[in-house]
Amino acid sequence: MDRRLFLEQTAMAGIASLLGSIASINELPQKKIRIAVIGCGSVSTQYLPHLSKCEYVELVSCCDRKFDRAEEKAKTYSIPNKYASIEALLNGAAFDLLVNLTDMQEHEHLNRKALTAGKNVWSEKPMANSYAGGKALLELAESKKLRFWGAPAVVNSPQFAFMSEQLKKGTLGTVATAHAHYGHTGPTWSAFFYEKGGGSLPDLGVYNIATLTGLLGPAKAVMAMTSIVTPKRTVDDKGTIDVKAEDNAHIILDHGKGVMSHIQCGFNYFDPYGHEGKGQKNHTIKIWGSHGNMGLIGYDWAPFGVELATSWTEPPVVHVPDPGTYVWQQGASVIATALATQTEPRINAYHALHVLEIIEAARASSDQGKKITLQSSFPWPMI
Ligand SMILES: NC(=O)c1ccc[n+]([C@@H]2O[C@H](COP(=O)([O-])OP(=O)(O)OC[C@H]3O[C@@H](n4cnc5c(N)ncnc54)[C@H](O)[C@@H]3O)[C@@H](O)[C@H]2O)c1
Repeated sequence: MDRRLFLEQTAMAGIASLLGSIASINELPQKKIRIAVIGCGSVSTQYLPHLSKCEYVELVSCCDRKFDRAEEKAKTYSIPNKYASIEALLNGAAFDLLVNLTDMQEHEHLNRKALTAGKNVWSEKPMANSYAGGKALLELAESKKLRFWGAPAVVNSPQFAFMSEQLKKGTLGTVATAHAHYGHTGPTWSAFFYEKGGGSLPDLGVYNIATLTGLLGPAKAVMAMTSIVTPKRTVDDKGTIDVKAEDNAHIILDHGKGVMSHIQCGFNYFDPYGHEGKGQKNHTIKIWGSHGNMGLIGYDWAPFGVELATSWTEPPVVHVPDPGTYVWQQGASVIATALATQTEPRINAYHALHVLEIIEAARASSDQGKKITLQSSFPWPMI
């Protein structure tokens, strides 16, 4: 899938509004949150329009080591300051929240530099490059009374809320099992997706893992198999490269009390409905219980409804066909809004850390051929 098609298919706009009500630990004096964006590549073209429309955001700086990209974004979005390195950015114009949209392998060290310099951070996934690294960053943030969050924002969709409410009400009876899948044919613009520290688990599986743990609860253990199906790729920035990170993965999660879920993801999935899955009626996520089942139509990052079946005689009913203001690229706007209004967002840093541990454990399970027990957890239920 090339970059233009990918962006066309994922271009949506909207302002985030789904926030909780617990007071934030961070007391920022101003109404608008001053934001610096690092990484002015593909995903910034989705974040910046959303951020620029958010009433609680002031876009102060942008930064890219490919400086022409920072210059272009500064011009397009009237951002007053532009830099070519994190050091210059941190020493430059004052800001409150770093939005990290760089290569996956760069996240941990850039997030650490920003937190050390006293900045709050919203990071694209993964929030760090190892579970230990993510845990250390979260501890660093807390020790400095800063906030640190990681993508994705899937828990903000009204479809997630609906599914969560049905589970809470017991509509499905005794829940037993779930399945989720997400894949496409792989990005063509940057090599990092296929290099060590990249891979389909942190780029794609991360959404389904966040959704299913968000719905069914923290996982206790993981078993997985991963593979590389396409050993060489041709990408815009480096030509033909050897693929080092998994482009095909299956994982099974044990959520406790007998509940299990299965997630599959990869960079070799043909989808006739295109990347965003528009127009499809298929479920990408399904949960089964003793008295009902429900399926999410479309992908969890771009959902089109939830089909609920609870009757032997009546057909299933589609609920919440409209995502409302939810769009996947709203994460940084939601966080800025939360900081400015002193409210707690539904997106939870410990949830992102748990998802990161699952990704690491899935790889270890595949390498070692055994079940891996997890350490981390997060506040649940989320709604
Ligand atoms: N592309 C998408 O639609 C999309 C969607 C959701 C999430 N993401 C995530 O967003 C992140 C970025 O993906 P992308 O597709 O935008 O990649 P990209 O290659 O298009 O952009 C990354 C940018 O970061 C810059 N960069 C890297 N390291 C840097 C550093 N140390 N200092 C300054 N700049 C640096 C690069 O020069 C590049 O311009 C990844 O974590 C990816 O998983 C991407």
